[in-house]
Amino acid sequence: MRAAIYSSYGPPEVLEIKDVEQPSIKDDDRVLIRVHNASVNAYDYLFRKGYLPTRLENGLTKPKNHILGIDVAGTIEAVGKNVYRFKVGDHVFGSCLGSHAEYVTPRENVLSLMPKNVTFEEAAAIPCAAQTALQALRDVAQIKQGQRVLIYGASGGVGHFAVQLARYFDTEVTAVCSTPNLQWVKELGANYVLDYTKKDFADDGKKYDIILDAVGKRTFFSCMRSLTETGVYITEHALYPKYHPVQLMVSSLIGRKKAKIHLAKPNYSDLDFLRGLVEEERVRPVIEKIFPLNQIVEAHRHVESGRTKGKIVLQVETE
Ligand SMILES: NC(=O)c1ccc[n+]([C@@H]2O[C@H](COP(=O)([O-])OP(=O)(O)OC[C@H]3O[C@@H](n4cnc5c(N)ncnc54)[C@H](OP(=O)(O)O)[C@@H]3O)[C@@H](O)[C@H]2O)c1
Repeated sequence: MRAAIYSSYGPPEVLEIKDVEQPSIKDDDRVLIRVHNASVNAYDYLFRKGYLPTRLENGLTKPKNHILGIDVAGTIEAVGKNVYRFKVGDHVFGSCLGSHAEYVTPRENVLSLMPKNVTFEEAAAIPCAAQTALQALRDVAQIKQGQRVLIYGASGGVGHFAVQLARYFDTEVTAVCSTPNLQWVKELGANYVLDYTKKDFADDGKKYDIILDAVGKRTFFSCMRSLTETGVYITEHALYPKYHPVQLMVSSLIGRKKAKIHLAKPNYSDLDFLRGLVEEERVRPVIEKIFPLNQIVEAHRHVESGRTKGKIVLQVETE
C-alpha cells in the first residue's frame, strides 16, 4: 500500500510516499479500513519534528512508527471476530495512528459510523479536533448554559469546533482570531468576535467563566484577570508545558480560579455524540484545503505555518 513515511526526525521534506506492507488484523477487536481521507493535525508535525516529549514515545534518535496521522475516514474491509459494532462496507470515522496510508487497523472502540450528511473529507476533519474541543468544554470545564465562554484561537481546528460546541451548550461565546478570520468565525455562531491583532481581550475588563486557549498561545497568568472568581482556564498546548506546572500549583493556592491542562482521549461515545450534532446540523467541520497524499510535504508546511482556517485534509484514496 502507499503511505507517507518518515525515517528520521526533521523538516517536512523528511516525508516521502513509499510502498509499504499493508497491515492485517492481528487482534480480534480490530477492523481493516480502506482510508479515503485523513486530516493533518499539529500532532503530526510535532512527532515529525521530534520534539523531546514525542521522542520519549516514538524513539529517541529515530522514529519507531514511520507513518503519521491520527484521524481517519474510510470503508471497513474486514472485521476481527470480536468486533460487534461494525460490518464490512460500513463508512466510519475516528481516531487511528498511521492514517496517512491506504489501510489502517484500529480498534473498534475509537471509531463511529460516519454522519449521514457529510463526505469522507468532512468526516476526516472531525475526530481529533472536535473531540478535543468537546472534552475540554464539557468534561474539563463542565460548561453550563448561560456561562460566558472565550475561545482563543477560534479559527483553528480545535477552535472552530469549540465555538460551535460552546454555542450548542447555550453559552455566550466570544471568539478571538485575526482580522481575515473574523467573518467566518462569526458565522459559526460566535456572539462576539475579537481581533487579537488589534487589542488584547484581557484589557477590556470583561470576565469569563471559561477561557479555552485552543492554540496554546496564552498563559494562565495572562488570562487570570479575565476569569470570574470561579473561572477556568484550559490550555490545549499540553505537549510543551513551559509554565503550566507552576501555574497549576499557583492556581490551586491562590483562590478558586483554576488552570487546567487537557489531553484528548479518543473514544467512540464522543464520536457518536458528535455524529448526532453533525447530523442535526449543530456542528460542521470547515476545511480550508484538501491535499492529495503525494503532497504530504506541502500539507505539513501548511499546518505548521499555524495559519490553518479550520482543517487541512489529505486525499488518500486515488480514483
Ligand atoms: N491537548 C490535546 O489533546 C490536543 C489535541 C489537539 C490539538 N492540541 C494542540 O492544540 C493546539 C491547536 O491545535 P489546532 O489543530 O487547532 O491548531 P491549528 O488548526 O493549526 O491552529 C491554527 C489557528 O491558530 C490561530 N493562531 C495562530 N497564532 C495565534 C495567536 N497568536 N493567537 C490566536 N490565534 C492564533 C490561527 O488563526 P489566525 O491566522 O487568525 O491567527 C489559525 O487559525 C496545538 O498546539 C495542538 O498541539 C492539543
